[in-house]
Amino acid sequence: MSNIEQTLSIIKPDAVERNLQDQIKSEFKSNNFEIIKEKKIHILKEEAEKFYKVHESKPFYSDLCAYLSSGPIVVMMLQRENAVLENRKLMGATNPKDAEDGTIRKKYGISIDKNSVHGSDSVENAKIELDFFFKD
Ligand code: CMP
Repeated sequence: MSNIEQTLSIIKPDAVERNLQDQIKSEFKSNNFEIIKEKKIHILKEEAEKFYKVHESKPFYSDLCAYLSSGPIVVMMLQRENAVLENRKLMGATNPKDAEDGTIRKKYGISIDKNSVHGSDSVENAKIELDFFFKD
């Protein structure tokens, strides 16, 4: 049985700043993801705080929100079979140092903060995160 899902991907400021968005989009396309929607935006810190609310209690929350709002980002709705899990595999571990060879964070990430991409961590969160950026 097929299990087509959608997930949210963000190309973070460090990657947009280095002009890596086309290379990163190619990674998705060559791994059978369809980019259904995409937009380049620059969000306010208050919006980043809403987006990352699940991390509110973490010590890195404020820096994380300041960072996501520090420059343009590209947000995308990705679709494929098992998109949430497959995107997490393709991104690799949160810290690029721990990410496996061939993953996006290993190839392009600079640090745990500047790890180039965000991806939804569950089907439930994917719906919430896609609504956050793409609700009409
Ligand atoms: P992301 O997948 O966007 O989700 C939350 C982000 O917090 C994560 O990627 C990292 O870039 C960032 N972060 C910073 N410090 C940490 C940490 N110690 N553990 C997990 N995530 C962290």
